[in-house]
Amino acid sequence: MAAGAFGASRQEGNHGREGHVILDDAAEKSMSGNHRIADSFDEAFDQYVWTARAEKCGIDQSKWTWLASAGGRVNIIGEHTDYHEGFVFPAAIDLRTRVVGAPRQDGKLNVGTENEGNSVSAAVADLKPSEKLDWRVYVLGPFWALRESGIDVKGADVFVTGNVPFGGGLSSSASVEVALVGLGAALAGVQLEKAEIARIARKAENEFCRVPCGIMDQMAVACGREGHAMLLDCRTLEITHVPFPDDWAIVVADSGVKHSVGGGEYAKRQAQGASALEKVRRRFPSVKLGRDVTAAMLDEVQNDLEKVEYRRLHHVVTENMRCDEARWAIEHHDAPRLGALLYGSHRSLAADYEVSCFELDALVEVAAACPGIIGARLTGAGFGGNTINLVHKDKVKEFRAALEKGYRKKVGKRTVTRVVKPSEGLVVTPIDRADPRCFQEAEQEA
Ligand code: GLA
Repeated sequence: MAAGAFGASRQEGNHGREGHVILDDAAEKSMSGNHRIADSFDEAFDQYVWTARAEKCGIDQSKWTWLASAGGRVNIIGEHTDYHEGFVFPAAIDLRTRVVGAPRQDGKLNVGTENEGNSVSAAVADLKPSEKLDWRVYVLGPFWALRESGIDVKGADVFVTGNVPFGGGLSSSASVEVALVGLGAALAGVQLEKAEIARIARKAENEFCRVPCGIMDQMAVACGREGHAMLLDCRTLEITHVPFPDDWAIVVADSGVKHSVGGGEYAKRQAQGASALEKVRRRFPSVKLGRDVTAAMLDEVQNDLEKVEYRRLHHVVTENMRCDEARWAIEHHDAPRLGALLYGSHRSLAADYEVSCFELDALVEVAAACPGIIGARLTGAGFGGNTINLVHKDKVKEFRAALEKGYRKKVGKRTVTRVVKPSEGLVVTPIDRADPRCFQEAEQEA
């Protein structure tokens, strides 16, 4: 992109307060609840860049009315606790999915993606979960789930783009689903709370994509707040936004091992938890899920459980406690305490929950000896994907170089590291065509 031309339009474009796009009164009024003004001029500008890209896919952009974007997510701590209605502590990040769309009245849904120009068309009324699972379910499922939730989606032309890596444990699928539910609702003229959007997106993932995930990812990518981590109670869905310290950075490191929550191991962990809980309930009938089990209860029932069942529940119980302590550590800027909790979480996920792998363990071990490290652990479901590394900001460069070198030496493979920022979750905004200059520049540059 030509920086000069871009710079000129930034200064003269349709914005007032630096970096914030001004929308007309009608547009402002049409937005409340989940509908927000684009955070920055960059974000609003991007829509024009996509326009040019979408045209290459043969998609008509002239009728686009809404744009939605949703972050990927990192989970700082609180892993495999969401489906036990426990606590999680994720943040939405600045690797994002962006979608634009125009309503149609003829019941047709056309979705184009930047990914090799893939596109799919379907009649909205005919959408139903099928046995055939490929990328299409992630872009069609949200519209099915909206209809199942009583929202009258009459049809749409949609284009999807983004930079959340697939299969990396950074919630690329939740990001696509939440962005599309947000867009679909806006196109249908319906205001929804972000938590409701997350619920609908999870329905799409559970029932249309047949992935038995919990609610963490969809809530994080929908409800995250810029500069904050988000402590979430997965039973009540109560959110506490905790400011993330300015002098700490989040570095994600890709193990290069693709993971999938749809693979059988994730469901197997859930089944092991369920069979353990059945036994716990014989003594403690009020226990509903892992969230309700205390360390004392677990001690008491230890002999009733298979060893593997005990270890699975032990992880859930201790991880819930670590989550709460991590909140204290972040609020008190206590890096050593937070680091110990992250390593503790990783060990528990590796030994008790058995969702780590050689590459993830190696990344954490190497990171622990790198300059600037606060703490590291696998993030997301595990079985591959990324680690999260909290790093003192002034040491990020040295940290990344040392981790990349150390990983290559230990594993013989390359790790891609990325610095990510805690970012806003879902942003839905009407498309503003008031700045044709941006549009022309974008077309030339894309
Ligand atoms: C995946 C799932 C989440 C959660 C994590 C593990 O990301 O989608 O619901 O269970 O794994 O914490």
